[in-house]
This record gives sequence, C-alpha cells and structure tokens, in this order.
Amino acid sequence: MSTSDKLYAGNTSATTGHAPAQTSAGEGVLPALEREVKPFKIRDVEINPPLVLSPMAGVTDVAFRCLLKRRGGIGLTVSEFISVEGLTRNNPKSLRQMRFHEFERPYAVQIFGGRPERMRMAAEMAEQVGADILDINCGCPAPKVVKHGGGSGLLRDLSRLETILKDIKRAITIPLTIKIRAGYYDNNINAVETAKLAEACGVEHIALHGRTKEQGYKGRANWDLVRQIKETVKIPVSGSGDVTTVAEAFARWNETNCDGVLIGRGAMANPWIFRQIEDALHHRAPYEPTLEDKRAVLLEYFDLLRADMPEFAAIGRMKQLAGQFTRGLAGGSRFRQVIYHSHEVTEILDRIEEYFETVAAGRFYVGEGTETTEEDAPVLDSCEAA
Ligand SMILES: Cc1cc2nc3c(=O)[nH]c(=O)nc-3n(C[C@H](O)[C@H](O)[C@H](O)COP(=O)(O)O)c2cc1C
Repeated sequence: MSTSDKLYAGNTSATTGHAPAQTSAGEGVLPALEREVKPFKIRDVEINPPLVLSPMAGVTDVAFRCLLKRRGGIGLTVSEFISVEGLTRNNPKSLRQMRFHEFERPYAVQIFGGRPERMRMAAEMAEQVGADILDINCGCPAPKVVKHGGGSGLLRDLSRLETILKDIKRAITIPLTIKIRAGYYDNNINAVETAKLAEACGVEHIALHGRTKEQGYKGRANWDLVRQIKETVKIPVSGSGDVTTVAEAFARWNETNCDGVLIGRGAMANPWIFRQIEDALHHRAPYEPTLEDKRAVLLEYFDLLRADMPEFAAIGRMKQLAGQFTRGLAGGSRFRQVIYHSHEVTEILDRIEEYFETVAAGRFYVGEGTETTEEDAPVLDSCEAA
C-alpha cells in the first residue's frame, strides 16, 4: 500500500474500543471522525499528515517553521508571504525569506504581488531555490499589498489573476497552488468562482481562509465555503481559520469533506497541535506537553532565532511567541509583562527559568522588576504585522 493509500480513519472509540481521548487542547472529549481522512497529494507531493502550518508573515520564518516541524505532525510548511517586487530586485530580506531546511520538506514558497511579469520571475526564483510547491497569496488584506493589486486585491480582479496564473504555469514545473479568502467584499463572495478559474488555469491545490478582505479577522471563518469548493473542483482543497483544537479539526473535516486543514494562530499558542491531531488520527491519545516541554520550546526557539538574526530582532520575535504561547498558563499574564520589559538576552533567559521554576514548585508567578499595568499579549492577527 502506498502511503497515500494509508487511511487515518474512522470513529476513535468505535474502531479501537478505547474511550475517546481527553486532550490538552482544551476541548474535552474528542468527537468522532465520520469519514476517512488520509494523506493527499498535490501532484506527486504527498501531504502526510494532511496538516499545513499556515503561512504567517512576521511569524513563520525559518526558525519558527523549524521549531514547529520538530514537534511533529506537519505535512506541509509554507514560507511567509514574500514580495515579488523585493525578490526580483534581489532584496536581501526577500531572498532570506525563501530559505528552508531540507527536513521541512515538502515546503512551499508563497509569493505576493500584482504584476504578472514580476510574479512569473519570482515564481521561477522559488523553483530555482528548490521549493516543492509555489503558492500565490490571494488573501492578504494589508492596504500596502492590496493597493498594488496583490494579496486579496487579486480577488476583485479575476482577469489579472488569470493572467498571472497562466503565465506562472507556463514558466515553472513544480505544482502551483493558491491561498484565497472568501472574497474581497462582504457582499460579493466569489471563492467558488475563483477556485473554478484557478483549476482551469492549472492550479493544483486551493486553500481557503473563509473570511472576506473587508472582514479582516473579525467574526468566524466560513467553512461552508470550503465544502462548496470541494464539491465544485477536482483538485485537493484545504481549509483555514480558527482551528485551535483537535476537536475543531475533526469537526471541520467532518463538515466539509476537505483534504487538508491549515493552522496558523493556534500553532503559536500550542506548538504541539499538529502532533496532537496526528495522534488522534491514528487513534492515539493526543500528546500532552509537560511543563518541561513548554520551557524547552521557548528556549529552543530563542536559540534558533539568535542563530538566525541580530539579537534585538531575536528578542522581538521571542516576545511575540512568549506572548501567544503563555496565554492561559498559570501566572502567564504576569510572565508576559515581565518578558515585554526585558531587553537583554540574559534577562529573558533568567525570566524564563524563573517563571517555569515557580510554576513547577506550585507557586504563583509574580515576577520581578517592572510594575507595568499592561494586561495581556497584543492581538496578533494579520499579515499587516509583518
Ligand atoms: C500574523 C499573521 C500573518 C499572516 N500572514 C499570512 C501570509 O503571509 N500569507 C497567508 O496566506 N496568510 C497569512 N495569514 C493568514 C493565515 O495563514 C490564516 O489563514 C489565518 O490566520 C486564519 O487561520 P488561523 O485562525 O489558523 O490563524 C496571516 C495571519 C496572521 C495572524
């Protein structure tokens, strides 16, 4: 049996006789999978397990992807979105954004832009660096991206999108995929139409984040559109939006019949989310990270960052993950405040040790130094953050 024939299937309790598992992801008892969920292929690239680390500008750089990939359960990694204007002018930042580790494969480079010629050139560059897949961003709502016709701007100019897709398709040999939103305007949901057009242009996978550009990140993602696209096209379809637990992933697979599930923000709060879902797909109890795992993951991330960028930048990124990661942990709010006001590497390392030692000893973390009144981590919810 080829790996793509291998099934992750069925109702957990019915097929194993075990009681449904409890998970650390906060949802209590797992729902049953009502259908077969299995690895899928984007042409000959196997996505196994069918779980994608969703691209997040300013977050999913090579250090973050490496950290998450090491935790397991990720079937496809994707770069941050990369400007074709920067890439094709050999902007060092854009070139750095394409870097990846071999063990990340399969790996997709995602590009954004509005000019067909630049898009084609950048797609060729992504193929040359060895990406397995070239993905086009048709979802970013940031004004600076949209005003040049890129990101979600392509959803209100489908003829331009068609030109771009056809030009790129002629220029590269690796599979071409797109990530779209529900539509540009709230009153013109055109995701199904966009998906049909993309398939006709030779696109080989569609990922939908079911919010419109106008909506930004408000409300809930519309997964029924994922179901509608899946019913309409023959190529694989994946969904994105608001999945933070094993139960939510299972429910979305049940409801939509989609092939893959993308997880973005949920992976910042819980780097083990992919592994937990993979465990549940294999009828294993989802992995429960220990306090030591949580301490280690923060320190490992800091090491990865410091090996890859100047110290001040690494500290900034570290604060970002610490902010998301410690939501809901005992004393986490105080820990975040203390970390935000740390400016030296040693200070951050000391505070991490201090926090985890305090929690391990069963005491409540009150931290040292600052008397800030800052309440919580900033909400990180857009490609505009990049
Ligand atoms: C900080 C941030 C940056 C993002 N950057 C990108 C991006 O570069 N490319 C992209 O296709 N989507 C981007 N997104 C959208 C996510 O990939 C995802 O579709 C969206 O956040 C909904 O999924 P989630 O609820 O699992 O986060 C970004 C989202 C966030 C929060």
